Amino acid sequence: MPPDYPGTLILFEGCEGAGKSTLLKSIAEILQEGTCGVIQTKEPRGYAREVLLNPHHPLTPEEELTIFIDGREEHFREIVIPALQNGDVVLCDRSTYSTIAYQHYGRGLDLTDILVRDAKARQNVDFDFIILLDIDPEIGLKRKKPETRFELETIDFHRRVRHGYLEQARIDSTGKWKIIDASKSEYDVLMDALAAIFKLLYRRR
Ligand code: TYD
Repeated sequence: MPPDYPGTLILFEGCEGAGKSTLLKSIAEILQEGTCGVIQTKEPRGYAREVLLNPHHPLTPEEELTIFIDGREEHFREIVIPALQNGDVVLCDRSTYSTIAYQHYGRGLDLTDILVRDAKARQNVDFDFIILLDIDPEIGLKRKKPETRFELETIDFHRRVRHGYLEQARIDSTGKWKIIDASKSEYDVLMDALAAIFKLLYRRR
């Protein structure tokens, strides 16, 4: 049984260049005008982030996965869980479904192993809502200069990642996923995301 905290955990996922950071910033600004506490956070963090993103630092897929999972354990323990216990709305840029899309669908690592280790790292805390910004990798990758280990991956890798995200949304039976077409204007994407989030927060009042 996942623990039940008074806060709300909203996760933003998507391929490279989908526009998550811009969207998250706007949503945080809008929600912060309300009465609830809002926390904006992201994975990977700190030193793990430097190692993971640096294309010159050699890592096997297994080592990469272990760093993501260890970082998640610390992230949930130090930031996410305390904020949820406090009743805050937590806006999280990437987590579990990135690991499934990138390390399982992208790198080919074992799904069951990822699911078990990921749930443990999150202390079984579940996401209340997942916003997937869906974009064709050909378009997303053109939006920024490729620099990180992942941005420099092949187009086939990024296609597998996108397929991985869409599959996860497709097989979900909880109704927690909202797919937004990220090739639309920034304004339209924001309106779609806000409408979904307000609906969720209204239901959870
Ligand atoms: P980041 O610069 O935060 O990317 P973005 O701005 O697109 O979110 O880099 C995080 C990278 O790490 C991104 O390429 C996806 C990858 N990643 C994984 O491969 N597995 C994971 O579990 C997570 C959280 C991220």
